Order: sequence, then structure tokens, then C-alpha cells
Amino acid sequence: MVREGLPGEVASVSLVANHSVLLIGSGSGLGRGVARGFVQAGAQVTIFDVSAEKVEDAREEFGDILAVQGDCSKVSDLVACRDKIIERHGKLDAVVCFQGIWDGNVPLKDIALDRIDELFRELFDVNVKGSLLAARVFHDLLQESRGALVLTSSNAAYAADGGGAFYSATKGAIKALTHQLAFEFSPYVRVNCVAPTAIGKSELRGPTALGLEGQKQSDIPKDTLLRAYRELSLIADFPEAEDYAWPYMFLASHSNKVMTGQTILADQGSLNRNFITPRSN
Ligand SMILES: NC(=O)c1ccc[n+]([C@@H]2O[C@H](COP(=O)([O-])OP(=O)(O)OC[C@H]3O[C@@H](n4cnc5c(N)ncnc54)[C@H](O)[C@@H]3O)[C@@H](O)[C@H]2O)c1
Repeated sequence: MVREGLPGEVASVSLVANHSVLLIGSGSGLGRGVARGFVQAGAQVTIFDVSAEKVEDAREEFGDILAVQGDCSKVSDLVACRDKIIERHGKLDAVVCFQGIWDGNVPLKDIALDRIDELFRELFDVNVKGSLLAARVFHDLLQESRGALVLTSSNAAYAADGGGAFYSATKGAIKALTHQLAFEFSPYVRVNCVAPTAIGKSELRGPTALGLEGQKQSDIPKDTLLRAYRELSLIADFPEAEDYAWPYMFLASHSNKVMTGQTILADQGSLNRNFITPRSN
């Protein structure tokens, strides 16, 4: 029901209809699930992912959408994607960065000294440089549309044991980057961030630098993870990627006129409690 006195647009809750949105790292997991929300809400979605296989799979699922294979840590791939978006949609209203890799949760003291340079470069290239480059390459289009940039951090930026030192550092960097870019891109481009916690069907992979590229975060036995998660979470259900669509769509939407420089901690309340009283259910 629509209350009198609210702006007319609120009546037809379609946050991103006709928005041209680029979803970076949307071949699987979080980005793929959120892409379903954007498509259902009538956005003109561009999928971008480093995996050709995942890009093809997304094309099969979504049909006639722009789906681009590329590496977001390479300027040339992002520029090529920008050209395709201009050709196909003529505008860009939002860029959302989901891309990421994990560090395998390996404790720093267990990482051989001769692996550190490569591991640092690998994690920061994808998780941080990819977002920085996307911000730079798409800034002018976003300024033209008075659009939005939305980044992805993690609960690992807030609390220990969401990943190892390298992954957590990249996710803290994304949160800091959100503050800085919101300042630099104002007043035309809003820059915000979502920090998710757990994601069903994630394919987040480990680092090549440690020979863990074949391992996924989701390989952690589900029962153990679920038990630990349910002990902490104030909302018992383990979230699916699609459950995160709403915060991302709001931040990507022209309807957001009130937030910039913020990170939404979407953690199901898991960091909102201390440890005296065990959960009763
Ligand atoms: N899985 C979790 O529990 C969790 C929790 C909090 C935050 N996150 C964050 O959510 C985001 C999505 O992770 P996910 O769990 O869905 O994993 P995922 O591996 O399923 O999704 C990440 C996608 O990014 C793509 N990608 C990787 N490197 C790329 C590059 N250089 N250029 C373009 N695309 C690239 C991958 O191919 C993949 O499709 C990541 O930023 C991750 O850090 C995940």
C-alpha cells in the first residue's frame, strides 16, 4: 500500500527498471544470483566475468543480454567492455563489482616467504585493483548518467576468521576505497558497498600462488559451516546469493538519493551479538 505524500515513483517499486547495469564477476555465486534480481526487475544487464565458460552459461540462462568475457584487472578488457556497452545500450547507470578470489584462510605464519609477493599481487590485483580500474574506466559514463558504483567487501573487513590476512586486507581496502571514491566522484556518482557474510553456491576459489586454485571456500564441510554459522546468525537461514539482490539493487538505483560512501553490512546480525547467551533455537 502506498502512503499519501510519498514521491510517485515509490508506487511502482521497480528500483532498476531500464537501468543499464554492468555486473563485474557475475559468472557465478553472489554476482550471478544478484544478476537474476536485476534481470527480473527489468534492468538491461551486462554480465562480465573472467571465465568464458561461466559467461556462456549466463548467456544461456538470460538469453539476449550482453555477456562479456574479460579480466577486470586489465584496463584493455574493461575498455573493450565499455565500448560494447555504449554500442548496445548507449548509456550506463550502474557498475557493480562482485569479482573476488580467496586466500584459502591460510595463517600468515604458515605461508612460505617466497610465496608472499605473488600471493599479495594475485589477491590485490583481482579484489582491489579490479574495482579501482572499473571505477576509473566507467567514471565518465556514470557521471553522464548521474549513476552509481557499488563495490563488494565482506564481513572479513569487520571481524577475524572470514578469510586469512590477505583476503581480509583486500576487503578492508574495498571499504576504505568506498569512502574515498564517494568523496572524489561527488556530487554526480554515488559510491557504496555491500559486505555480505555467507553465500550459498559460492564458487570462491583459492589462490594460484599457494597452489590452491582448485580449492573453493565452499569445500569447507557444509555441516560444520552451517552449525557454526547458525550459532552466530540472528536470522537462522543460510543466505542464497539471490537474497542479496535487494541491497545491491537499491544502491545501484537512481532511487537512492540518500546514501553515498556507506557499506551495508549484510551479515544476518552475526556481528551484532556477544557470547554470553547461547542461541536457544
Ligand atoms: N562466499 C562468501 O561467503 C563471501 C562472503 C563475503 C563476501 N564475498 C565476496 O562476494 C564476492 C563474490 O564471491 P562468491 O562467493 O560469489 O564467489 P564466486 O567465485 O562464485 O564469484 C566470483 C566471480 O568473480 C569472477 N572473477 C574472478 N576473478 C575475476 C577477474 N579478474 N575478472 C573478472 N571476473 C573475475 C569469478 O570467475 C567468479 O565468477 C567476492 O568479492 C567475495 O569476496 C563472498
